[in-house]
Amino acid sequence: MNSLNDWPEPIVRVQSLSDSAVLAVPDRYIKPPPERPSLNSDPSDVNIPLIDLGGLLGCDGNTLQPPATILTKISEACREWGFFQVVNHGVRPELMDLAREAWREFFHLPMELKQAYANSPKTYEGYGSRLGVEKGAILDWSDYYFLHFLPASLKDHNKWPALPASLREVIEEYSAELVKLCGVLMKILSINLGLREDHLQKAFGGTNIGACLRVNFYPKCPQPDLTLGLSPHSDPGGMTLLLPDQHVAGLQVRKDNKWITVKPAPHAFIVNVGDQIQVLSNAIYKSVEHRVLVNSDKERVSLAFFYNPNSDLVIEPVKELVTAEKPALYPGMTYDEYRLFIRLRGPRGKSQVESLKSPR
Ligand code: OGA
Ligand code: NI
Repeated sequence: MNSLNDWPEPIVRVQSLSDSAVLAVPDRYIKPPPERPSLNSDPSDVNIPLIDLGGLLGCDGNTLQPPATILTKISEACREWGFFQVVNHGVRPELMDLAREAWREFFHLPMELKQAYANSPKTYEGYGSRLGVEKGAILDWSDYYFLHFLPASLKDHNKWPALPASLREVIEEYSAELVKLCGVLMKILSINLGLREDHLQKAFGGTNIGACLRVNFYPKCPQPDLTLGLSPHSDPGGMTLLLPDQHVAGLQVRKDNKWITVKPAPHAFIVNVGDQIQVLSNAIYKSVEHRVLVNSDKERVSLAFFYNPNSDLVIEPVKELVTAEKPALYPGMTYDEYRLFIRLRGPRGKSQVESLKSPR
Protein backbone atom coordinates (compact mmCIF):
# COMPACT_ATOMS: atom_id res chain seq x y z
CA MET A 1 0.00 0.00 0.00
CA ASN A 2 1.33 3.40 -0.97
CA SER A 3 0.56 5.24 2.22
CA LEU A 4 2.71 2.77 4.15
CA ASN A 5 5.89 3.44 2.21
CA ASP A 6 7.03 6.44 4.19
CA TRP A 7 6.24 8.78 7.04
CA PRO A 8 4.06 11.77 6.17
CA GLU A 9 6.43 14.23 7.86
CA PRO A 10 10.15 14.36 8.69
CA ILE A 11 10.88 12.30 11.78
CA VAL A 12 11.99 14.08 14.93
CA ARG A 13 13.62 11.97 17.62
CA VAL A 14 11.99 12.76 20.94
CA GLN A 15 15.29 11.96 22.63
CA SER A 16 16.97 14.76 20.62
CA LEU A 17 14.29 17.21 21.71
CA SER A 18 14.76 16.16 25.30
CA ASP A 19 18.57 16.33 25.07
CA SER A 20 18.40 19.83 23.59
CA ALA A 21 16.82 20.88 26.88
CA VAL A 22 13.76 22.55 25.38
CA LEU A 23 11.79 24.23 28.13
CA ALA A 24 8.41 23.71 26.49
CA VAL A 25 6.91 20.69 24.80
CA PRO A 26 6.42 21.46 21.07
CA ASP A 27 2.78 21.75 19.98
CA ARG A 28 2.87 18.43 18.13
CA TYR A 29 3.11 16.58 21.46
CA ILE A 30 0.49 18.55 23.37
CA LYS A 31 -2.66 16.52 23.97
CA PRO A 32 -6.09 18.12 24.07
CA PRO A 33 -7.08 18.83 27.71
CA PRO A 34 -9.41 15.80 28.14
CA GLU A 35 -6.59 13.44 27.18
CA ARG A 36 -3.96 14.86 29.51
CA PRO A 37 -2.51 12.79 32.37
CA SER A 38 -4.21 14.45 35.33
CA LEU A 39 -7.63 13.34 34.22
CA ASN A 40 -9.13 10.45 36.20
CA SER A 41 -5.79 9.24 37.52
CA ASP A 42 -6.41 7.24 40.64
CA PRO A 43 -4.20 8.49 43.49
CA SER A 44 -4.87 5.48 45.68
CA ASP A 45 -2.49 2.57 46.08
CA VAL A 46 -4.59 0.11 44.06
CA ASN A 47 -2.43 -2.12 41.87
CA ILE A 48 -3.00 -4.78 39.24
CA PRO A 49 -3.03 -8.36 40.66
CA LEU A 50 0.35 -9.88 41.53
CA ILE A 51 0.55 -13.64 40.91
CA ASP A 52 3.31 -15.99 42.03
CA LEU A 53 3.86 -18.67 39.38
CA GLY A 54 6.15 -20.75 41.60
CA GLY A 55 4.91 -24.35 41.67
CA LEU A 56 3.45 -24.20 38.20
CA LEU A 57 5.66 -26.92 36.77
CA GLY A 58 5.68 -30.50 38.09
CA CYS A 59 8.67 -32.14 39.78
CA ASP A 60 10.32 -32.84 36.43
CA GLY A 61 10.33 -29.08 35.79
CA ASN A 62 8.51 -29.65 32.53
CA THR A 63 4.95 -30.89 32.93
CA LEU A 64 2.36 -28.26 33.64
CA GLN A 65 0.63 -28.97 36.96
CA PRO A 66 -1.03 -25.69 37.82
CA PRO A 67 -2.38 -25.55 41.38
CA ALA A 68 -6.04 -24.50 41.51
CA THR A 69 -5.13 -21.32 43.39
CA ILE A 70 -2.92 -20.07 40.54
CA LEU A 71 -5.56 -20.96 37.95
CA THR A 72 -8.22 -19.06 39.87
CA LYS A 73 -6.05 -15.98 40.34
CA ILE A 74 -5.19 -15.84 36.65
CA SER A 75 -8.80 -16.41 35.67
CA GLU A 76 -9.99 -13.53 37.86
CA ALA A 77 -7.21 -11.25 36.67
CA CYS A 78 -8.04 -11.95 33.00
CA ARG A 79 -11.73 -11.27 33.55
CA GLU A 80 -11.50 -8.28 35.87
CA TRP A 81 -8.33 -6.53 34.77
CA GLY A 82 -6.97 -7.93 31.50
CA PHE A 83 -3.64 -7.24 33.24
CA PHE A 84 -1.56 -8.89 35.97
CA GLN A 85 2.04 -9.16 37.14
CA VAL A 86 3.84 -12.47 37.51
CA VAL A 87 6.83 -13.35 39.69
CA ASN A 88 8.70 -16.67 39.97
CA HIS A 89 8.05 -17.02 36.25
CA GLY A 90 11.24 -18.93 35.50
CA VAL A 91 13.08 -16.23 33.54
CA ARG A 92 16.40 -15.40 35.21
CA PRO A 93 16.36 -11.94 36.86
CA GLU A 94 19.89 -11.29 35.56
CA LEU A 95 18.74 -11.91 32.00
CA MET A 96 15.89 -9.43 32.46
CA ASP A 97 18.31 -6.76 33.72
CA LEU A 98 20.83 -7.49 30.96
CA ALA A 99 18.14 -7.16 28.30
CA ARG A 100 16.78 -3.87 29.61
CA GLU A 101 20.21 -2.36 30.18
CA ALA A 102 21.49 -3.43 26.74
CA TRP A 103 18.60 -1.49 25.21
CA ARG A 104 19.20 1.50 27.46
CA GLU A 105 22.78 1.50 26.17
CA PHE A 106 21.53 1.37 22.60
CA PHE A 107 19.38 4.46 23.10
CA HIS A 108 22.37 6.30 24.56
CA LEU A 109 24.55 5.64 21.50
CA PRO A 110 25.33 8.61 19.24
CA MET A 111 22.39 9.53 17.00
CA GLU A 112 24.23 8.66 13.73
CA LEU A 113 24.58 5.06 14.85
CA LYS A 114 20.91 4.76 15.69
CA GLN A 115 19.79 6.49 12.50
CA ALA A 116 21.28 3.62 10.50
CA TYR A 117 18.28 1.60 11.74
CA ALA A 118 15.61 4.25 11.03
CA ASN A 119 12.32 2.48 10.27
CA SER A 120 9.47 3.02 7.82
CA PRO A 121 5.76 2.34 8.24
CA LYS A 122 6.04 -0.54 5.78
CA THR A 123 7.29 -3.06 8.35
CA TYR A 124 7.98 -0.84 11.38
CA GLU A 125 11.22 -2.76 11.97
CA GLY A 126 14.00 -0.65 13.43
CA TYR A 127 14.32 2.70 15.17
CA GLY A 128 11.10 4.71 15.19
CA SER A 129 9.46 7.74 16.72
CA ARG A 130 5.81 7.50 15.73
CA LEU A 131 3.02 5.00 15.19
CA GLY A 132 0.55 5.76 12.44
CA VAL A 133 0.96 7.74 9.22
CA GLU A 134 -1.68 10.40 9.61
CA LYS A 135 -0.34 13.79 8.59
CA GLY A 136 -0.59 16.35 11.36
CA ALA A 137 -1.29 13.74 14.06
CA ILE A 138 -0.47 14.65 17.65
CA LEU A 139 2.51 12.51 18.61
CA ASP A 140 3.59 10.68 21.74
CA TRP A 141 6.65 11.56 23.83
CA SER A 142 8.70 8.43 23.03
CA ASP A 143 11.06 6.71 20.61
CA TYR A 144 11.13 2.94 20.14
CA TYR A 145 12.84 0.00 18.47
CA PHE A 146 10.81 -2.77 16.88
CA LEU A 147 12.09 -6.17 15.77
CA HIS A 148 10.82 -9.61 14.84
CA PHE A 149 11.75 -12.83 16.53
CA LEU A 150 9.19 -15.25 15.02
CA PRO A 151 8.39 -16.52 12.45
CA ALA A 152 12.03 -17.40 11.79
CA SER A 153 11.62 -16.17 8.20
CA LEU A 154 11.13 -12.62 9.52
CA LYS A 155 14.01 -12.72 11.97
CA ASP A 156 16.95 -10.78 10.58
CA HIS A 157 19.87 -10.01 12.88
CA ASN A 158 20.99 -7.29 10.49
CA LYS A 159 17.89 -5.38 11.48
CA TRP A 160 18.79 -5.72 15.16
CA PRO A 161 21.33 -3.22 16.57
CA ALA A 162 24.97 -4.31 16.24
CA LEU A 163 25.78 -2.30 19.37
CA PRO A 164 26.08 -2.69 22.28
CA ALA A 165 28.03 -5.83 21.38
CA SER A 166 26.07 -8.04 23.80
CA LEU A 167 22.64 -7.03 22.52
CA ARG A 168 21.92 -9.61 19.83
CA GLU A 169 22.96 -12.54 21.99
CA VAL A 170 21.10 -11.29 25.06
CA ILE A 171 17.93 -10.56 23.10
CA GLU A 172 18.09 -13.94 21.40
CA GLU A 173 18.11 -15.72 24.77
CA TYR A 174 15.55 -13.31 26.25
CA SER A 175 13.11 -13.89 23.38
CA ALA A 176 13.47 -17.67 23.54
CA GLU A 177 12.68 -17.61 27.27
CA LEU A 178 9.65 -15.38 26.75
CA VAL A 179 8.24 -17.59 24.00
CA LYS A 180 8.37 -20.47 26.51
CA LEU A 181 6.66 -18.46 29.23
CA CYS A 182 3.94 -17.31 26.83
CA GLY A 183 3.37 -20.96 25.84
CA VAL A 184 2.73 -21.82 29.49
CA LEU A 185 0.37 -18.87 29.95
CA MET A 186 -1.52 -19.84 26.78
CA LYS A 187 -2.14 -23.27 28.30
CA ILE A 188 -3.41 -21.75 31.53
CA LEU A 189 -5.76 -19.42 29.69
CA SER A 190 -7.07 -22.35 27.62
CA ILE A 191 -7.70 -24.48 30.72
CA ASN A 192 -9.40 -21.53 32.43
CA LEU A 193 -11.71 -21.10 29.43
CA GLY A 194 -12.72 -24.76 29.73
CA LEU A 195 -10.82 -25.75 26.60
CA ARG A 196 -8.11 -28.33 25.95
CA GLU A 197 -4.80 -26.94 27.13
CA ASP A 198 -3.43 -26.64 23.58
CA HIS A 199 -6.53 -24.95 22.17
CA LEU A 200 -5.42 -21.31 22.07
CA GLN A 201 -1.91 -22.25 20.95
CA LYS A 202 -3.36 -24.21 18.02
CA ALA A 203 -5.66 -21.32 17.15
CA PHE A 204 -2.53 -19.11 17.02
CA GLY A 205 -0.89 -21.52 14.56
CA GLY A 206 0.85 -24.04 16.84
CA THR A 207 4.59 -23.54 16.47
CA ASN A 208 3.96 -21.19 13.59
CA ILE A 209 3.22 -18.13 15.68
CA GLY A 210 4.53 -14.58 15.59
CA ALA A 211 6.67 -12.93 18.25
CA CYS A 212 8.14 -9.46 18.20
CA LEU A 213 9.66 -6.92 20.53
CA ARG A 214 8.95 -3.24 20.92
CA VAL A 215 11.43 -1.43 23.12
CA ASN A 216 10.07 1.88 24.32
CA PHE A 217 12.32 4.78 25.27
CA TYR A 218 10.59 7.61 27.13
CA PRO A 219 12.96 10.57 27.46
CA LYS A 220 12.66 13.16 30.24
CA CYS A 221 9.96 15.65 29.44
CA PRO A 222 9.91 19.35 30.42
CA GLN A 223 6.08 19.46 30.72
CA PRO A 224 4.84 15.96 31.52
CA ASP A 225 1.33 17.21 32.34
CA LEU A 226 0.67 18.21 28.74
CA THR A 227 1.61 15.04 26.90
CA LEU A 228 1.72 11.22 27.07
CA GLY A 229 4.56 8.78 26.51
CA LEU A 230 2.13 6.44 24.79
CA SER A 231 -1.53 7.23 24.05
CA PRO A 232 -4.33 4.96 25.26
CA HIS A 233 -4.51 1.71 23.26
CA SER A 234 -5.17 -1.96 23.64
CA ASP A 235 -2.48 -4.26 22.24
CA PRO A 236 -3.63 -5.59 18.87
CA GLY A 237 -1.89 -8.98 19.16
CA GLY A 238 -2.36 -12.06 21.33
CA MET A 239 -0.62 -11.57 24.63
CA THR A 240 2.00 -9.09 25.85
CA LEU A 241 4.79 -9.58 28.39
CA LEU A 242 6.07 -6.20 29.48
CA LEU A 243 9.36 -5.73 31.26
CA PRO A 244 8.99 -2.30 32.86
CA ASP A 245 11.72 -0.01 34.11
CA GLN A 246 12.66 -1.23 37.57
CA HIS A 247 12.75 2.25 39.08
CA VAL A 248 10.42 4.47 37.09
CA ALA A 249 6.63 4.05 37.03
CA GLY A 250 4.64 5.27 34.06
CA LEU A 251 2.24 2.60 32.85
CA GLN A 252 -1.42 3.17 33.65
CA VAL A 253 -4.24 0.68 33.12
CA ARG A 254 -7.87 1.65 32.67
CA LYS A 255 -10.16 0.17 35.31
CA ASP A 256 -13.76 1.29 35.82
CA ASN A 257 -13.01 4.52 33.96
CA LYS A 258 -10.06 5.37 36.19
CA TRP A 259 -6.38 5.18 35.30
CA ILE A 260 -4.52 2.93 37.74
CA THR A 261 -0.74 3.38 37.93
CA VAL A 262 1.08 0.04 37.84
CA LYS A 263 3.60 -0.36 40.64
CA PRO A 264 6.03 -2.96 39.25
CA ALA A 265 7.18 -5.71 41.64
CA PRO A 266 10.91 -6.54 41.49
CA HIS A 267 11.70 -8.68 38.44
CA ALA A 268 8.06 -9.18 37.58
CA PHE A 269 6.63 -9.33 34.09
CA ILE A 270 3.42 -7.45 33.41
CA VAL A 271 1.11 -9.72 31.40
CA ASN A 272 -1.80 -8.41 29.38
CA VAL A 273 -4.43 -9.87 27.10
CA GLY A 274 -4.43 -8.50 23.54
CA ASP A 275 -7.28 -8.01 21.08
CA GLN A 276 -6.82 -11.45 19.46
CA ILE A 277 -7.49 -13.24 22.75
CA GLN A 278 -10.50 -11.00 23.30
CA VAL A 279 -11.81 -12.16 19.91
CA LEU A 280 -10.97 -15.88 20.45
CA SER A 281 -12.53 -15.88 23.93
CA ASN A 282 -15.63 -14.12 22.54
CA ALA A 283 -14.95 -11.28 25.01
CA ILE A 284 -14.80 -13.47 28.14
CA TYR A 285 -11.31 -11.97 28.40
CA LYS A 286 -10.89 -8.32 27.47
CA SER A 287 -7.87 -6.53 26.13
CA VAL A 288 -7.73 -3.51 28.38
CA GLU A 289 -6.69 0.02 27.48
CA HIS A 290 -3.45 1.34 28.86
CA ARG A 291 -1.26 4.42 28.44
CA VAL A 292 2.09 5.72 29.60
CA LEU A 293 2.92 8.91 31.51
CA VAL A 294 6.32 10.59 31.33
CA ASN A 295 8.12 12.69 33.90
CA SER A 296 10.58 15.55 34.08
CA ASP A 297 13.51 14.00 35.90
CA LYS A 298 13.82 10.39 34.79
CA GLU A 299 13.94 8.60 31.46
CA ARG A 300 12.15 5.24 31.25
CA VAL A 301 12.91 2.09 29.24
CA SER A 302 10.41 -0.76 28.78
CA LEU A 303 10.43 -3.94 26.68
CA ALA A 304 7.05 -5.05 25.30
CA PHE A 305 7.18 -8.61 23.96
CA PHE A 306 4.21 -9.43 21.75
CA TYR A 307 3.10 -13.04 21.29
CA ASN A 308 0.82 -13.14 18.26
CA PRO A 309 -1.15 -15.49 16.05
CA ASN A 310 0.32 -16.50 12.72
CA SER A 311 -0.49 -13.49 10.57
CA ASP A 312 -2.37 -15.46 7.87
CA LEU A 313 -4.72 -17.43 10.11
CA VAL A 314 -8.32 -16.35 10.52
CA ILE A 315 -8.97 -15.48 14.16
CA GLU A 316 -12.58 -15.80 15.28
CA PRO A 317 -14.45 -16.69 18.48
CA VAL A 318 -13.75 -20.29 19.56
CA LYS A 319 -16.77 -22.48 18.65
CA GLU A 320 -17.01 -23.91 22.19
CA LEU A 321 -17.46 -20.38 23.55
CA VAL A 322 -20.24 -19.45 21.15
CA THR A 323 -23.76 -20.33 22.34
CA ALA A 324 -27.33 -19.29 21.59
CA GLU A 325 -27.19 -16.94 24.59
CA LYS A 326 -23.74 -15.68 23.66
CA PRO A 327 -23.46 -15.58 19.88
CA ALA A 328 -20.15 -14.76 18.19
CA LEU A 329 -19.36 -11.10 18.83
CA TYR A 330 -16.73 -10.75 16.12
CA PRO A 331 -16.35 -11.78 12.50
CA GLY A 332 -13.23 -13.75 11.54
CA MET A 333 -10.22 -11.79 10.36
CA THR A 334 -6.51 -12.52 9.88
CA TYR A 335 -4.06 -10.76 12.18
CA ASP A 336 -2.37 -9.35 9.09
CA GLU A 337 -5.56 -7.48 8.17
CA TYR A 338 -6.24 -6.53 11.76
CA ARG A 339 -2.94 -4.83 12.52
CA LEU A 340 -3.15 -2.54 9.51
CA PHE A 341 -5.47 -0.39 11.58
CA ILE A 342 -2.95 0.56 14.29
CA ARG A 343 -0.17 0.76 11.72
CA LEU A 344 -2.07 3.40 9.78
CA ARG A 345 -3.89 5.28 12.50
CA GLY A 346 -1.69 4.85 15.56
CA PRO A 347 -2.93 4.14 19.08
CA ARG A 348 -6.68 4.83 19.32
CA GLY A 349 -7.98 3.30 22.50
CA LYS A 350 -10.14 0.26 21.83
CA SER A 351 -11.84 1.69 18.79
CA GLN A 352 -10.84 -1.12 16.47
CA VAL A 353 -11.93 -4.21 18.35
CA GLU A 354 -15.13 -2.41 19.39
CA SER A 355 -15.94 -1.36 15.82
CA LEU A 356 -15.67 -4.96 14.70
CA LYS A 357 -18.52 -6.14 16.89
CA SER A 358 -21.09 -7.79 14.66
CA PRO A 359 -24.12 -5.51 14.37
CA ARG A 360 -27.23 -7.00 15.93
C1 OGA B 1 3.27 -1.07 24.47
C2 OGA B 1 2.99 -0.59 25.84
C3 OGA B 1 3.79 0.13 28.00
C4 OGA B 1 5.01 0.66 28.67
O1 OGA B 1 4.45 -0.99 24.04
O2 OGA B 1 2.32 -1.54 23.81
O3 OGA B 1 1.85 -0.55 26.21
O4 OGA B 1 5.00 0.72 29.90
N1 OGA B 1 4.02 -0.22 26.64
O5 OGA B 1 5.96 1.05 28.00
NI1 NI C 1 0.55 -1.65 24.92
